[in-house]
Amino acid sequence: MQFDYDAVIVGAGGAGLYAALEASGSGKTAVITKLYPQRSHTGAAQGGIGAALGNVEEDSPEWHAFDTVKGGDYLVDQGAAIILAEEAVRAVYDLENRGLPFSRTPEGKIDQRRFGGHTREFGTGPVKRSCYAADRTGHMILQTLYQQCIKNDVVFHDEWHVVDVVMDGSRITGLIVFELRTGELHMVGAKAVLFATGGFGRMFKVTSNAMANTGDGPAVLSRTGVPLMDMEFFQFHPTGIKKMGILITEGVRGEGGILYNRHGERFMEKYAPTLLDLAPRDMVSRAIMTEIALGNGMQGDKKIDDWVHLDASHLGRDTVEAKIPDIADFCRTYLGVDPAVEPMPVQPTAHYAMGGIPTDVDGRVTDGRTVWDGLYAAGECACVSVHGANRLGTNSLVELIVYGRRSGRAMADHIKSAQSVRIGSEGTDKLAHWSKRITKLKEGGAHSGDTFEAMKETMMANVGVYRNETNMKKAVADISNLRAAFGEIGVQDQDVNFNTEVLSILELENLLDLSLHTASAALARTESRGAHSREDFPERNDEAWLKHSLSTIQDDKVVLGSKPVDVSRWEPKPRVY
Ligand code: FUM
Repeated sequence: MQFDYDAVIVGAGGAGLYAALEASGSGKTAVITKLYPQRSHTGAAQGGIGAALGNVEEDSPEWHAFDTVKGGDYLVDQGAAIILAEEAVRAVYDLENRGLPFSRTPEGKIDQRRFGGHTREFGTGPVKRSCYAADRTGHMILQTLYQQCIKNDVVFHDEWHVVDVVMDGSRITGLIVFELRTGELHMVGAKAVLFATGGFGRMFKVTSNAMANTGDGPAVLSRTGVPLMDMEFFQFHPTGIKKMGILITEGVRGEGGILYNRHGERFMEKYAPTLLDLAPRDMVSRAIMTEIALGNGMQGDKKIDDWVHLDASHLGRDTVEAKIPDIADFCRTYLGVDPAVEPMPVQPTAHYAMGGIPTDVDGRVTDGRTVWDGLYAAGECACVSVHGANRLGTNSLVELIVYGRRSGRAMADHIKSAQSVRIGSEGTDKLAHWSKRITKLKEGGAHSGDTFEAMKETMMANVGVYRNETNMKKAVADISNLRAAFGEIGVQDQDVNFNTEVLSILELENLLDLSLHTASAALARTESRGAHSREDFPERNDEAWLKHSLSTIQDDKVVLGSKPVDVSRWEPKPRVY
């Protein structure tokens, strides 16, 4: 079937819903989501949304912008970070006005707590900047925005998976989608399309990411020729539940939780004497992995799957149940550990992609040379770039709201002035191509499970917290081999309706492409910066590497280009915390 809209948003997380809300005021707007909207991964964000409200301690958007730039190891585009911090304040009050039930101070203001790397007066000490709803902040954002979209007549196509874009030169005219319920392929025409498909942490073995985080937007656009930016920078959150990777919010440390090694030492004193457990995530993850390598993990075996302890028991049961109730439940359910009385076993978990689809500050997809007409991206799948080489905690939710809204506004302007488009023969050709591909998959072949496991294993072992040339070369070779053999994979399940096996193979193809981008761009960057930490090149090298990377896959190999970084406000300095 063919569907036509003015604006189409792919993805129903915070950025997608906010953009849909804005675009819906100016034209017929639809959201295409492979999940049900309330199950989007924004719902997993726990600890808060950073904004310099100054409700609990003195604060300013300028300090927030500076922390963002320094936290990102100066690879952040500074103009974009200033917009982020300045617009965050209004964005939080806007969410409050739309009905978000924030936790409150005794006087009834939005309460705020500490988070890693957020400081007062340009780094002199920690500041309470994270606005939160217990440890369910993302969940509350999702519910609030979804209700507002329904009120504003946004159309939702649930369980639709985008497989391709239809372009007329560099202008987008529509999408090809696979409907999970019926197994049908559809063409969707639009004047403007925004990708807000979230992250791709499923390429790693231990991750906080949901099953659905397979990078569909960046992978589809990369195949159509859009270069991806800063793909080498992948954040490991320091505190995932051991072996499972489920997020234990930084809010635990924000409330006073402390990391200990097997000797009962508060080891962050050695690595970040000022901010301690609330140093930025890249530093805390490295500290944990270093302690493990020294034999100070709980097992003491120096293996990378060892863990350390996060203790919140001194906070008392009342605080644990009021401020971090969900993570307390996770620990009891999955580990039989009650955080009110005993420490939580934690290890770094693949959490967040700093890189993605390059955009300007209004969400327009551009690599600095080409602007793709009518094409937008926002949220984790995009790279604007406000996170640089390492994102600060809470800034993902800020980005969703600030840049989701800005992109939606730009789409609204675009659809008012743009001519209606018709999908030309390229659309019908692509539809026929995808129909053949799915028929071929159903002819059978190797099960996808082994490829999926091999990809996750090699990415975790070789492109993790610490990296070196030998390991990353192995990852590039492994992923290249898996991609070369991908054509042998087929489905066993012949059902037409709800064929999740077809979906998972399409997702795996996306993850393999993004793994190749990530491993190859990481191998090429011969320095250490933020989350990209090389044992063989331990120093940051601004002379050679103060630049964004742009990667494209040509003939199954990654070709790299670059784009300048906006350092117009703060001169890059060594990062000390
Ligand atoms: O630790 C957390 O609650 C995660 C927040 C984030 O990724 O910003």
